[in-house]
Amino acid sequence: MEFKTHIYYMRDGKAESEFIKEAAEIIRSGGTVIFPTETVYGLGADALSAEASLGIFKAKGRPADNPLIVHVSSIDMLLYLIDEGLSEKANLLIDRFWPGPLTLIFKKSVNVPYAVTGGLDTVAVRMPDHPIAFALIKESGRPIAAPSANRSTKPSPTKGKHVVGEMVGRVDAIICGDDSRVGLESTVLDMTGETPMILRPGGITLEHLREVIGDVLIDAGISEDEHQDNKEKKSPKAPGMKYAHYAPDAPMYIFKGESEKVIKRINELTVEQQSFGKRVGVLASSEHGKCFDADIVIGFGKPDKLEEVAANIFSALRDLDKVKLDIIYAEAVEEIGIGVAIMNRMRKAASNKIYFVD
Ligand code: TXA
Ligand code: MG
Repeated sequence: MEFKTHIYYMRDGKAESEFIKEAAEIIRSGGTVIFPTETVYGLGADALSAEASLGIFKAKGRPADNPLIVHVSSIDMLLYLIDEGLSEKANLLIDRFWPGPLTLIFKKSVNVPYAVTGGLDTVAVRMPDHPIAFALIKESGRPIAAPSANRSTKPSPTKGKHVVGEMVGRVDAIICGDDSRVGLESTVLDMTGETPMILRPGGITLEHLREVIGDVLIDAGISEDEHQDNKEKKSPKAPGMKYAHYAPDAPMYIFKGESEKVIKRINELTVEQQSFGKRVGVLASSEHGKCFDADIVIGFGKPDKLEEVAANIFSALRDLDKVKLDIIYAEAVEEIGIGVAIMNRMRKAASNKIYFVD
C-alpha cells in the first residue's frame, strides 16, 4: 500500500512541539513514524499494539521472527514492559548509560505483544538520548517499538535524506533531524542470564560495561574471522544478527594488516580487476584516500578517531551504491573500543570476506 507520508523537518535537535503532537497522534492511532535517535534513525509504532507493530515489519520488509527494540521515556514505562523488578546490575547500567545507546533485554510482561518480540518471551528496551525521540515517546504516552529505519538488509540510516530516499510512501510520517551522533546501532545486552551477555556490539563498549558491572560475556557468534570458516559456525543469539545486512550492491572484501601492505595489496587487485574492465570502489581511511588507484575512493574518517568512523560508516556504505561498481575493497579498522562494533558491521557488509595481508 502506498502511504501519504508527512515529512517534518526539525533542525539543531529541536523538538518542535506542534509537529511532535501530530506525530504522537499518528503513533497513538496505530500508524508508523520515522524519527531520529542518537544511534540511527528508527521506524516507530505503538509497542503495545500488535497490529501497529506489524506495520513496521511491512514497511521494512523485515522477517517476522526478528524482534524489535522498544523505546521508553521513563523507568515506569520500562517496568510496565518487563515481568519483574530491576536487578542491581540493571539498575547500575540504567543509572550510568540511560538515556543512551544501550539496549537491555529482560523477560517480557504480558503487556508486550509477541508481534514485537518475534515470538520470544523477552523484550529489548532502551531509552534514546535524543530530544526528538524522547519528546515523541513522552507525548504519545506509549513505548515505541522501532528498528532501524532502513529497508531490510540495507545499511541503517544516519541522515534524514537516507530515510526520505528509501521510505517515503512506506510510512505515515518522517521526522528529519540532524545526522545521528553515534552512527551505529545500540549495544544489545542480554540481562536474562546469570552473567550479562553482549548480543550486538555498539556505542557502549565491553570496557564501558565491565567498568560498571564487572563480568560481561560476548556472544561467540558475533565476531567470526575467516579462520573460523571451516569450523562449526555459531549462530548469533540476537535473531537480527543472523540476517544479511548492510551490504552494498557490489561484493565487498576487507583487508587487515599494516597500512602500507594493505594499500599495496588493494592496488594490485584493483589493477587486475580494471584490466578485465571492472569498476573498483575502495572504502578506506580518509588519510589514505590519495594512495588508491580505484575508480572511486570513499573515506570513512581518520582511523585514530574511531568515533568519527562510526558516525560515517553507514553513510559511506550507502555512497558506494551511488555509482555502478563491480567490486569493493575496504581497509579494516582496529578492533578496540567502538572499533569492535564498526568491524562487526563492516564484516556483515562484506558477508565476512576478510583477509589478512602480511
Ligand atoms: O540503536 C538502535 O538500537 C536502533 C535505534 C532505532 O534505536 N534500533 C535498532 O533496531 O537497531 P533493529 O531492530 O535494527 O535491531 C534490533 C536488534 C536485532 O539484532 C534483534 O534481533 C535484537 O536487537 N533483539 C531485539 N529484541 C531481542 C530479544 N528479545 N532477544 C534477542 N535479541 C533481540
Ligand atoms: Mg537494523
